[in-house]
Amino acid sequence: MKKKQKQLKDLFLLDPNITFLNHGSFGACPKPIFDSLVKWQKLLEREPVKFLAFDLFKYLENSRNSLSSYLNCHKDDVVFFPNPSTALNTVIKSLELNAGDEILSTNHEYGALDRTWNFISKKKGIKYINQYISLPLKSKDQFIEDFTKGINDKTKVIFISHITSPTALIFPVKEICDIASKKNIITIVDGAHAPAHIDVNLKEIGADFYTGACHKWMCSPKGVAFLYAKKSVQHIIDPLVVSWGYEAENPSHSQYLDYLQWQGTNDMSPYLTIPDTIKFLHENNWIQIAKESRELNIWARDQIANQLGLELIADENFIGQMSSIPFDFKDQINDQLEFYNRYGIQIPFFMWNNVPLIRLSIQVYNDEKDIHRLILAMKDFMNRKRI
Ligand SMILES: Cc1ncc(COP(=O)(O)O)c(C=O)c1O
Repeated sequence: MKKKQKQLKDLFLLDPNITFLNHGSFGACPKPIFDSLVKWQKLLEREPVKFLAFDLFKYLENSRNSLSSYLNCHKDDVVFFPNPSTALNTVIKSLELNAGDEILSTNHEYGALDRTWNFISKKKGIKYINQYISLPLKSKDQFIEDFTKGINDKTKVIFISHITSPTALIFPVKEICDIASKKNIITIVDGAHAPAHIDVNLKEIGADFYTGACHKWMCSPKGVAFLYAKKSVQHIIDPLVVSWGYEAENPSHSQYLDYLQWQGTNDMSPYLTIPDTIKFLHENNWIQIAKESRELNIWARDQIANQLGLELIADENFIGQMSSIPFDFKDQINDQLEFYNRYGIQIPFFMWNNVPLIRLSIQVYNDEKDIHRLILAMKDFMNRKRI
């Protein structure tokens, strides 16, 4: 491990006895960013009323300003949420949908959001379609052909992950948003895994709605996500929790912000760490870190596939810092726990459309030794399961 990489690794609060190969699920926060959280929490507790009643919106604006520069959008088009599910539930429950309308998605979406759409579908009599994307994924054209077969006159919304959770694939969302906008179809992009993992340029992507998590690959403290909405669609958003911003006594210039920024008393300190989080990413040349982590990930998935005789599900153009590889376990929960307890390796197992997958995440604190340990563990695990 290079000196600079070792210095960065030492900033993370992770248990040194665990081989941590699951940055993807909840991220991990380095000390300087965690210290920023404590700084904000202490300021809050010193004078809670001044902080929450007088100063909070100014602090939030400063944070939105940083985040919007990072994502290339206007500061008033982005609002903080504790997680992508809450942001997406806000959008999904606001949409005016009628019986027979269709929502086109893929068969690679995050299970909690599939459930949100199933819930709305039952209530409104709409159809949620998980379009089949054939694997191995070899080209953008193959993806676009598979996906767009699902578009018809009833399609009102396209919902698609930027980087998928179970299969860890980068989908060509800009191309899909371009196609959708020509057909007047609303686009909602689930970018939970994208910021600081790949470049996220919201103006360029052109989605109507985009959500991302900051606590995953941006390494912010837990409980920071955002919703971006294009100006032209902000008026359709209802607050998920109706509070003071509805029928506001002193409305601001933006109903969207009024409805969403205050949903009752809450500790918003994690949101306020975003300027420090982004400063940390810039100071440590995170674009280069992400590039090197991706290279290690590509090498690792090849090693795993070759040494264990496993299949890869996509060409490397669709891969960032995560790889999902088919791996023959039987019982997702118990086998993952057994893997953790036996080998001290934190890595998720997913049962995805009846395909068992193991998902590797690579962050700055990982190196080749972690991959050698993983391969030995996977071999041993396979041998044991054969007995
Ligand atoms: C693709 C994707 N979307 C949405 C989410 C939602 O995250 P949360 O459960 O924190 O809202 C996740 C979480 O891992 C995810 O991977």
